[in-house]
Parts: sequence; structure tokens; C-alpha cells
Amino acid sequence: MKVFLQVFFFNVALIAFFLYVGNSIPQTRKDPPKDLELSVDMSQEDFIKTGEQIFYGKGTCALCHPIGEHGERCPDLAGLGERAEARVQEAAYNGTAENGPEYLVESLHDPGVYVVDKYQPSMPALGRQLNDLEMVALVSFLQSLGGEVTVDGKTTFAKYRGGGAAAPASAAAPPAAAPAAAVEASGKSGEELVKQWGCIACHKLDGPEKSVGPSLWDIGKRQDANYIREAILAPDAVLAEGFPKGLMKITLDGNGFYQKVALQDLNTMVDYLASLKGE
Ligand code: HEC
Ligand code: HEC
Repeated sequence: MKVFLQVFFFNVALIAFFLYVGNSIPQTRKDPPKDLELSVDMSQEDFIKTGEQIFYGKGTCALCHPIGEHGERCPDLAGLGERAEARVQEAAYNGTAENGPEYLVESLHDPGVYVVDKYQPSMPALGRQLNDLEMVALVSFLQSLGGEVTVDGKTTFAKYRGGGAAAPASAAAPPAAAPAAAVEASGKSGEELVKQWGCIACHKLDGPEKSVGPSLWDIGKRQDANYIREAILAPDAVLAEGFPKGLMKITLDGNGFYQKVALQDLNTMVDYLASLKGE
């Protein structure tokens, strides 16, 4: 454990050093990703192409999902177009979608309605980060994976996308009976867990000062549990302003976080962080 900690803190020191160096060199800034230009009357081909960009870009889907090869922690999405149609008929499905496209949208807003066999219910609810046409584009792309594209610019998914009101925290969706291989909950408190997972190496919890990452001491005042969950599961999807991409993800994954953390521990951590109001 001691050696592990030494190695870990050495890594953190190294990262901090690189950050320092990185910040002191004038940045060759990349243009911020442009908002994709979408219009209602775009061709199906263009919707698919844009959807692909979203999948590999701002949607962050490709951080987790492979297409065409087995994924350890997230399912391969090859053939999804056809599979989506069949999902809504399966006994294990407990949502309200009536067809494939609806299922796809629903599973982006409320991933718990169906949990793919042998995987942990750890998909973040990313749907609300996309506007209506971006959603059509993404669904077009997903349908094109082994299925027929049946949506176009006029398709709306009002049923799942609501009107402005924040989507209900799907965090509350009961995890389907965990598969046998699932990691067991540790029973530790949120405070202990953020220590165990090294969060405190980069985040201050007892004051507003930033360190490698933003201070989390008032995160519960600034953000809701949904955001916090996404920030942990898909660190690059929600970027705190002024901080680098990739760092948190690389470190957590390097620690084997996604494979080793139990869903319940994750929930405990999220609840704990959501309770921090900066007092
Ligand atoms: C942090 C990792 C992660 C990210 C990011 C992620 N997913 Fe997932 N996704 C999962 C996991 C794990 C599952 C399997 C468990 C489940 O079904 O909820 C899953 C399941 C799915 C399913 C259900 C597949 C099926 O066969 O029924 C769809 C569809 C899906 N993801 C699409 C997406 C799309 C589109 C994005 C990007 C907007 C995305 N995911 C981003 C982890 C992720
Ligand atoms: C190697 C450093 C590092 C580690 C370890 C790390 N983070 Fe982060 N974290 C960051 C950075 C950098 C950001 C800002 C960039 C971003 O949003 O991804 C961040 C952002 C966040 C945010 C969003 C904060 C905001 O103000 O929007 C949350 C929540 C968070 N981290 C929680 C955690 C938790 C929980 C852990 C442990 C499981 C953890 N982090 C581990 C570096 C780290």
C-alpha cells in the first residue's frame, strides 16, 4: 500500500508538473468544437454522418463503446439498429418505448430501462446534452448500424425529451440484479470512498481552492447528482471550465476504476458529493 501510494503521488506530482509547464507555455489553441450545423431538411446521409461525428465527438459514446469488437466494460454497438427493435419485446425491458428509435432515445435518457447482459448499469444519462436535431442525427447513425434508418428531421422524441424540466435523475433507477461477476459494494462511506479512489489527490473537499481539478467542497450547491455522476463516468463529457480534458479519465482508468468500483459505491460517492454545499 505504501509503495502504491508513493507511486501514485509521484504520478500526481508528475501530472501537476506537466500541467504547470503546459500552462506556462503560450497555448496553441485549438478552435472550440463548432456547434454542428443541422437543419430539419437534411438528407438521411447527412444525418448519419453528423450522428457519427457526435458519437465520436461531443457525445463521448466512443470513450466507452466499441463498434465491431468486444468491449470489456461497455457493449459493442455493431448491429444495434436491428437489436434496438427487438429490445422492446424482451422480458428484461422495463421502459415505455414502442419501437427501435424510441428505445435508443430512451436508453440515452434513462439507461436503466434495459441493462445489457453481462454489463454493469454504468451508462451515464447523456441524452439531455444533445438538442433535438442532434438526437435525430445520433439515432440515424445508431440505426444505420445494422438496421434501417426510419427517422428524419421531423421526428421528435417529446416523450423522453420533456420540455425544459431537468430529466429525473435516473440514478434512482434500481440497478437490475447485478450479474454474478459484479463488484461487491464495500459498504464504505462516501468520504472514505473518495479517499480510496484517489479523488482527493486532485480535488479539494474542505475549501474552495482549486488544485489539479476544481474544488468539490461546494459541488452539491453548483450541480445536481446527475451532473456529478456524468462527471465521474464520462469525465470528458462535462468539462469544468479552465481544466484539461482527459486527465481525470486517464487516471481513474489507470486505477482500474470502472472495472473495480461497485455501482453502489459509485452511488454513495455521488450522494456524498451532492451533499457538499461549501459550508
Ligand atoms: C461511461 C461509459 C459509457 C458512455 C460514455 C456511453 N455508454 Fe452506452 N452503455 C454503457 C454501458 C456500460 C452499457 C451497458 C449497460 C446498459 O445497458 O445500461 C451501455 C449501453 C448502451 C446502449 C444499450 C445497448 C443495447 O444493446 O441495448 C446504447 C444504445 C448505448 N449504450 C448508447 C450510447 C451512446 C449513443 C452513447 C453516447 C451518447 C453512450 N452509449 C455513451 C456505457 C457507456
Ligand atoms: C488526476 C486528477 C483527478 C483525479 C484522480 C480525479 N479527478 Fe475529478 N477532475 C479532474 C479534473 C482536471 C477535472 C476538471 C476537468 C473535467 O471536468 O473533466 C475534474 C472534474 C471533476 C468533477 C466536475 C467538477 C465541476 O466543478 O464541474 C467531479 C464531480 C469530479 N471531478 C469528481 C471526481 C471524483 C469523484 C474522483 C474520484 C473517483 C475524481 N474526480 C478523481 C481531475 C481528477
